[in-house]
Amino acid sequence: MVTKAYHIETYGCQMNVHDSEKIAGALHTLGYVQAKDAFSADVIVFNTCCIRDTAEKKILGNIGDLKHIKTHRPDVIIAIVGCMTQQKGIAEQLVKKFPFIDIILGTSNANEIADKVNEIVASRAQRRHRVVVIPRMEKPAINENEPVFRTSGTNAWVNIIYGCNNFCTYCIVPFVRGRERSRAPDVIIEEIKGLLGQGYKEITLLGQNVNSYGSDRTDGSNFAKLLAEIGQLPGKFRLRFMTSHPKDFTSEVIDVIAAFPNICNNIHLPVQSGSNAVLKAMNRKYTREKYLDIIRMIRLKMPDCGITSDIMVGFPGETDDDFRDTLALVKEVRFSNAFTFVYSPRKGTYAATLDQVPHEIKKERITELVSVQNEITKELSEQYVGGTFEVLAEDAPKENLLCGRTESGRLVSFNGPSEYVGQFLQIKVTKAKASALFGEIINGKQCE
Ligand code: SAH
Ligand code: SF4
Ligand code: F3S
Repeated sequence: MVTKAYHIETYGCQMNVHDSEKIAGALHTLGYVQAKDAFSADVIVFNTCCIRDTAEKKILGNIGDLKHIKTHRPDVIIAIVGCMTQQKGIAEQLVKKFPFIDIILGTSNANEIADKVNEIVASRAQRRHRVVVIPRMEKPAINENEPVFRTSGTNAWVNIIYGCNNFCTYCIVPFVRGRERSRAPDVIIEEIKGLLGQGYKEITLLGQNVNSYGSDRTDGSNFAKLLAEIGQLPGKFRLRFMTSHPKDFTSEVIDVIAAFPNICNNIHLPVQSGSNAVLKAMNRKYTREKYLDIIRMIRLKMPDCGITSDIMVGFPGETDDDFRDTLALVKEVRFSNAFTFVYSPRKGTYAATLDQVPHEIKKERITELVSVQNEITKELSEQYVGGTFEVLAEDAPKENLLCGRTESGRLVSFNGPSEYVGQFLQIKVTKAKASALFGEIINGKQCE
C-alpha cells in the first residue's frame, strides 16, 4: 500500500498552530504522514485566520493557487477549516468561488477532518462529493483526548480556555470561536505531566484571555490557582502563557509568577491604545491608568520581567491626540517588543459600522509607532550585552548555530551543536542588533 500524505498550511495565532497539530493528529490516525509540500500531498488543509483583511486576502489568493494542483491531480483532497470559514456566509462564497474545494469545516469541528476525508474517499468512486459543515457557535463541547501531532520542538502548546466573551468592538474572534469554555484543571495538569514526562522543556498555556480561566466553571478554579498548581510540578521546565487581558489581570497572578521559578517572567499584555476614549470605544474595560498600574505592580515584583504588547492604530474616531496618548504610553512602559497593527474593519463587528479613519492617516501613524517602538527595542537589546542569561536552546537553524530564548522572552543566537537543543544553557550576550541578540555558551557547558 502506498502511504498517503497531508500538508497543512496554518495562518493566524498560536491557537491555530495548535489546532493544526490536532488536525495532523487526526490524519495520522488514518495512516497519513506529513508531506514535503502541498505539491506532493494527497490531502491539503488550510487552517485559516480572519483577524484582519490582509490575512484573509492572502489566504484567498493562496486558495486560488490550489487550482493548479487540483487540475493536475484531481484526486487531491482540499480542505478549508478554521476562523475564516466560520464567518457568516463565507463557506457559501468559498464554494462558489473555488468549486474545487472538497471539505469546509469550522473552528470547533476541524477534528472531524479524518471522518470527512474518509467520506470523500469512499464516495469518489460514485461521483464528485463535497462536505461543508460549519458548527453553530456559542458553546461547542470541548473535545478531550484528541490525538495531537506536535511540531513545535521543545515547546508544547496546551489549551486552557477556548473562545472569548469580551466582544472588543473591533474583533471578529468572539464570532468565530464562540463563548469561553475552560478545560477542567485536573485534565490540564495530567496533560502537562504527560508532556513533561515525554521531555518537553517548555509549556505554553493558550487562551484568548487566559486570565478569565475558570470563570465559567463551578469548581472555584481560576488562573492564579492553575498557574500555582502547574508551577509546583517537579523538574526543570519553563511555563509561559498567552494572552493576558488587562481587565482581568490580578495581583495574585503576579505573585504566583514571581513565586515559582518555573513560571517565566514574561508577560504579553496587549494594551491596544493609550487613549481612554479609544479604550472605551473598543470596549476594553480598563483605562490607561489601570494599565499603567498593572505594569508598575509587575515591575515592582519582577524588575526583569519582559513585557510585550499588541497595539493598534486607526481605530474609528482615533484623533491625533488619542494617537499621541498611545505614543506616550509606549514611551513610558518601554515594552521589550510590540506587535503593531493598523485597524482593519471586520464585517459583523460594531466598529466596522463607524466612520473610518482615512488610510493615509493610518499609514502615517503606524510608521511613527513602529519607529518609536523599534528604537525602544534596540535600546533595551543593548542593555543585554555583557550579561549572562539562562537560555533554552530551542532550534538549530543551521549547522553549529542554535537559537533560544531568555526567560524574559528575548531570542538569542549562538554557536553550538544541534544536540544541545532542549537544554538550558548559560549564554553570555556579546552583540545586539535591533531586536536580535547574539551570544556564546559560557564554559562550553550546559547548566542544570
Ligand atoms: N485575545 C487577544 C488577542 C487576539 S487577536 C487579546 O485580547 O489581546 C491579536 C491582536 O490582533 C489583538 O490584540 C489586536 O491588537 C489585533 N486585532 C484584532 N482585531 C483587529 C482588527 N480588526 N484590526 C486590526 N488588528 C486587530
Ligand atoms: Fe478579540 Fe478582545 Fe476577545 Fe482578544 S479579548 S479575542 S481582542 S474580543
Ligand atoms: Fe486569527 Fe482565529 Fe487566531 S481569527 S488570530 S486564527 S483566533
